[in-house]
Amino acid sequence: MREPYAHTMMPQASCDERARQNFIAGLKMHMEDRVYPADRTVSTKRVLPRFTAQHGRAPQSRAEFRHAMEADPFVQAWSAIARNMQEMHWDTVSEIVWHDLDGLIEKSRVPQAKGSLHLDPNLPVPRYHTAVDIHCMPGGYHTEITNGDVFAGAMFDRGAYYYGLPIRGSSALKHTDTRKRMQRAAPGYTLIDFIDQTYPDLKPRRILDLGCAIGGATVPYAERFPAAKIFGIDVAAPQLRYAHARAEGLGASVHYRQENAEALSFDDGSFDLVVSHGLFHETSAKATPRILAECYRVLRKGGVTMHVDTQFARGLDDYDAYYWDWDTHYNAEPFWGTLHHTDARDLLRHAGFPAKTICEAWPIGQADGTTRFDPVTDNGGKIVGSTIFGARKT
Ligand SMILES: C[S@@+](CC[C@H](N)C(=O)[O-])C[C@H]1O[C@@H](n2cnc3c(N)ncnc32)[C@H](O)[C@@H]1O
Repeated sequence: MREPYAHTMMPQASCDERARQNFIAGLKMHMEDRVYPADRTVSTKRVLPRFTAQHGRAPQSRAEFRHAMEADPFVQAWSAIARNMQEMHWDTVSEIVWHDLDGLIEKSRVPQAKGSLHLDPNLPVPRYHTAVDIHCMPGGYHTEITNGDVFAGAMFDRGAYYYGLPIRGSSALKHTDTRKRMQRAAPGYTLIDFIDQTYPDLKPRRILDLGCAIGGATVPYAERFPAAKIFGIDVAAPQLRYAHARAEGLGASVHYRQENAEALSFDDGSFDLVVSHGLFHETSAKATPRILAECYRVLRKGGVTMHVDTQFARGLDDYDAYYWDWDTHYNAEPFWGTLHHTDARDLLRHAGFPAKTICEAWPIGQADGTTRFDPVTDNGGKIVGSTIFGARKT
């Protein structure tokens, strides 16, 4: 029996494998609903009073706050479970992908019908990808061990869908129409909704998605802007092979290219819209300003760049800022915490965008599957998961 959310490239799980994935998704929801919330109570009732008694003051830095929390057995227990859940998640996904791999490689060799695929075997994969298996995904995004390998792409597609359900989720799960369900879980739709609301005059003819991976967020642009030429770039070949076959299977026209977003091959002023979804927390702090400078260069005047990524810590209290950094230290996300403490407005200004065009928003998923966009505040904010940020070239 095929799984309901499958498209042509999605690796298919056996009954037992699906049960294991559902178990992990269920455990994750349980942890989020019942266990993690107690961490704040442990902080205020136990950890901070103990710290203050020892030091005569409250913790003064993020690191001090985290070290004080890490010493508590409750924190150690939930943290160990969370890390194990992540490893179990990828173990289960990799079993599913392994048994389908030969077939997936075969299926990925589709003709360039609607879109295209351009790989550059000489493009160096940046060290920030080879040095660590980001979010514990074995082999990261780029590893290839056989000709035409799509393992990493299949891992990311199957893994990100299941991983995202408990987080992105209730609104995604509420849709009984399975295609809508997949769509709502894709960050591309969130950003498209925001762009539609913020720039009703923008009629993009050429769109570029940076760090597109398997095109989960790219394909929605092809659906929303059918007259536009859509490009997706990524450094990782196994993602792009899979992305191309996935898009062709979905009937979407997308042109995928293996490129580094820090130094794009495109001409100056060649795009109306440049977007990214989850790119910046997985690229280095040095690469970030270079990528935003490239966004400015390849945009035409009047063009818009807009990005959605992990929520910045601005507006969060000390506890939430510490809690939100967990993945940096225990989930192999080395740039997660750095991005939280980055000022996107400064970076966009340095890239050349006029201050008055810069915008930021918090997307808040609603039960009916729509998204509300709240202004980013400097205090009193809550963890909502992501921030949208970008600007217009004038
Ligand atoms: C979290 S994934 C985002 C995937 C996709 N945008 C989505 O929403 O499903 C981050 C992607 O950015 C890519 N990436 C990181 N740094 C890059 C760079 N400098 N140039 C191009 N791609 C990059 C990674 O290879 C990875 O596929």
